[in-house]
Amino acid sequence: MTTLERSVGADVTRIEGRDKVTGAALYAYEYPVRDALYAWAVQSTVARGRVRGVDGGGALALPGVVAVLDSGNVQRLHPTEDPELSVLQSTDIAYRGQIVAAVVADTYETACQAAAAVRVEYEENGHDVELRDDDPNAFVPDTVNAGYPGLRESGDVDTAFATAPVTVDATYTTPPEHAAPMEPHATIAVWDGDALTLYNGDQGPWMTAEALAELFGLPRGSVRIVADHVGGGFGSKAVPRPPTVLAALAARAVGRPVKLAVTRQQMFSMVSYRTPTVQRVRLAAERDGRLTAISHNALQQSSRLTEYCEQTVAATRIMYAAPHRRTIHRLAQLDVPTPSWVRAPGEAPGMFALESAMDELADALGMDPVRLRVVNEPAVDPESGRPFSSRNLVACLREGAARFGWEGRDPVPGRRRDGRWLLGSGVAAGNYPVYTMPATATARAEPDGSFVVRIAAADIGTGARTMLTQVAADELGVALDRVTLDIGRSVYGNAPMAGGSMGTSSWGWAVSKVCRALAERLDETSGAVPPEGLELSADTTEDVQAQKKLARCSFGAQFAAVRVDAVTGQVRVDRLLGVFTAGRIINPRTARSQLRGGMCMGLSMALHEMLDVDPHYGDFANHDFATYHVAANADVRDVEAYCLEEEDGELNPLGTKGVGELGIVGTAAAVANAVHHATGVRVRDLPITLERVR
Ligand code: MOS
Repeated sequence: MTTLERSVGADVTRIEGRDKVTGAALYAYEYPVRDALYAWAVQSTVARGRVRGVDGGGALALPGVVAVLDSGNVQRLHPTEDPELSVLQSTDIAYRGQIVAAVVADTYETACQAAAAVRVEYEENGHDVELRDDDPNAFVPDTVNAGYPGLRESGDVDTAFATAPVTVDATYTTPPEHAAPMEPHATIAVWDGDALTLYNGDQGPWMTAEALAELFGLPRGSVRIVADHVGGGFGSKAVPRPPTVLAALAARAVGRPVKLAVTRQQMFSMVSYRTPTVQRVRLAAERDGRLTAISHNALQQSSRLTEYCEQTVAATRIMYAAPHRRTIHRLAQLDVPTPSWVRAPGEAPGMFALESAMDELADALGMDPVRLRVVNEPAVDPESGRPFSSRNLVACLREGAARFGWEGRDPVPGRRRDGRWLLGSGVAAGNYPVYTMPATATARAEPDGSFVVRIAAADIGTGARTMLTQVAADELGVALDRVTLDIGRSVYGNAPMAGGSMGTSSWGWAVSKVCRALAERLDETSGAVPPEGLELSADTTEDVQAQKKLARCSFGAQFAAVRVDAVTGQVRVDRLLGVFTAGRIINPRTARSQLRGGMCMGLSMALHEMLDVDPHYGDFANHDFATYHVAANADVRDVEAYCLEEEDGELNPLGTKGVGELGIVGTAAAVANAVHHATGVRVRDLPITLERVR
């Protein structure tokens, strides 16, 4: 017998990689479902008002059209926490692009044509879609997304600012951004009596099943989600969206399976976006760089339907020590679609502002920006006073500085040239919280020596399936090829979504627990498996609840080198280098890939991404990838990510923190700080377009 290599910690390639690149992997829209019809949404062309009437006559006259649906003829739904899901339940219109009717036809093309033939008569009321810093209706919510308080205040901030020798007071803005996954949202809805199966592009099969059962007034378990493969989500598939509900309503109405594919154009108004922000950051410091006061005030928007307030200043509460502190979220409700989670919601825009302000403070102090961050390192969580389970930001900064070649950097802006290019470098830091949620996993030993492990996880391109297979194989003490990980289905039990960077910790905990129990059981029988197999389940609810109350965060330091065309203002990012601590890394290859992907998204956020609000029509003007720019291959040059070893015994038994979102946090600030270093121009508004640099 050869010694079995441990799978955890190995650079295992993606288990489903071949299936994906050969087209064998099925995505939501591709499941072979017999006798299906096709649904197409009709979207409101007004931003605020009411539907007076829907005339489906022209649509129904087309051959192949089976039904025209509107709020008068679809099933009544039960109200849930998310009013966005009350599709066709009212004639009220809260935003342009809201679903006001739908058609069902025998082909995709006919459905598209028929939707255009539906006549909707509107009562139009004036709308307001512009986020303004002086909006008199803006308010401070008690709690914001993920349960953070809307306002935190301690010490005497005003006196601290009045008496500090050095202060910074600057306002930063970030635009609305779109999640823009490669696979647009798609659903196939199949009813069998009162049981509903949804093949759905989905980050959270179990949570979606629960939400849809509640919405349709069905017992728990009657809705089943299938999401074996998901072509990216970036937050937009973390909770169910209106098109999924529409597919289920349509299938119910026509008594046949219904397929619904959201077009790329429709994506921009139907599946949420990141809120724009207006953020005022004030920092006060002693001459030695020690912060005496931090104030961060973030204005954001939500729809009139629901109060979604992103936790934009939450990351600021963790970052630096300072005796006087005030962090506030403000929210304005406008006639816009409801924003939601997009790629490190809160942390990504929040750390752009704070980490830009830290750079401005370093400038004002004449102090190295790496050193400024090191001297403000807190011993405990500055807000709660709780110890960190582990915190290695300083190690990230030092390692990053060494690898990047930071030492000896001339801090004076605008002094380095390469022909027409101005050269600069910048640094920023960031953190992302460690979320862990309970999950259930099942492990089954077969008489032939193979194992099947089931959990309602989702692999949205992260490598989750591969990582969980590694965890299971190690606990079972077998080679990877003996273990099959079945994921992506709600029937496998409760599990959180692939979001909040919590998959590895939450699903991994349940998989390791059940596999360890199965291995122990097999030890008792010397490995003998009964002919019918041996199956165990485990749930981590009690384990998760028993965790000590500590501050748990991953940290990162980001370094950027840019060149800026002195004539045109064009910015190129020559190099990004990030050093991170995220506990134990299960699979260095996929973890690196996650972190580098996040850094590319940060680059994209810094230079390109912006939904353009059209005040006249009340919608976003960009509805495709020609006008909504994301970083392309040609934008991305040298991107390096390193994880420092971090032992943390106060996490889950695997010792993991999660790497899904950490890579994007701070990247945009590092780029903006480098642009300042190159040019002397401080760009406080994202994205950093040509006209903002010149
Ligand atoms: Mo992610 S934006 O937490 O789904």
